Amino acid sequence: MINQLIWSIGTLTLAVLFLQLCKFIIPYLRSSQLIKYKTEDAYALITGATDGIGKAIAIELADNGFNILIHGRNVEKLKSVEKEIIRKNTACKVINLIHDGSKSSRMDIAPISHLPITILVNNAGVGPISELATMSNQEIDQTIMLNTAFPSQLTHDLIPFLKKASLILNVSSYAGILPPPYLAVYAGTKAYNNAFSISLARELENIEVISLLSGLKI
Ligand SMILES: NC(=O)c1ccc[n+]([C@@H]2O[C@H](COP(=O)([O-])OP(=O)(O)OC[C@H]3O[C@@H](n4cnc5c(N)ncnc54)[C@H](OP(=O)(O)O)[C@@H]3O)[C@@H](O)[C@H]2O)c1
Repeated sequence: MINQLIWSIGTLTLAVLFLQLCKFIIPYLRSSQLIKYKTEDAYALITGATDGIGKAIAIELADNGFNILIHGRNVEKLKSVEKEIIRKNTACKVINLIHDGSKSSRMDIAPISHLPITILVNNAGVGPISELATMSNQEIDQTIMLNTAFPSQLTHDLIPFLKKASLILNVSSYAGILPPPYLAVYAGTKAYNNAFSISLARELENIEVISLLSGLKI
């Protein structure tokens, strides 16, 4: 009887672990869906595209034939990324957008709203590691503004201009579902990014919304 119980628990545990493994592996086996958004002359807008994940996504999308709208605060860094993209993809059109998303959540999209944008990557974000009590009020406000209000307003303003079959990719973090210490504000903003994405995905019909849960590799 006890043996049978242990055997059942073991089988159940193995089944759960197997399902978790499948859930982890399946996204890596899926073929790219990018072609869905690749209409003629399609543009992709990537916020925080001068460094890290945003820059890598911008380069990858340019390599896949998209024209690119790169956003950041630093003109020199934007120009350098623009050069890097054009060197590899001579036909790619690159437009730079300068806006500090921690100071104001509204970026002027009037100059780009006529473009056939099919991908928006809300990537710009900061994550100061610190005890909450030692963070300055300004640091808290700016983190919340850049990580939540800025992508929300940009998405809100762009949705009416996005073409059919578009993608909104919100770069979130595992911190939003497994919040570690010393990252209370950051983890809170990333939980917001996840909930925002799931709600919006249920609301929009022709626009796919994905929350990318990236994690620090150490
Ligand atoms: N790296 C990780 O391990 C990791 C893990 C989980 C989640 N994430 C998420 O991934 C995203 C990108 O992270 P990352 O590590 O790749 O970042 P990063 O290398 O530090 O680059 C941040 C980008 O955001 C821009 N940015 C920063 N503050 C800004 C502001 N106030 N206004 C406008 N743009 C601003 C920067 O532009 P400037 O040139 O103007 O500074 C830069 O292009 C973030 O949302 C982060 O939460 C990262």
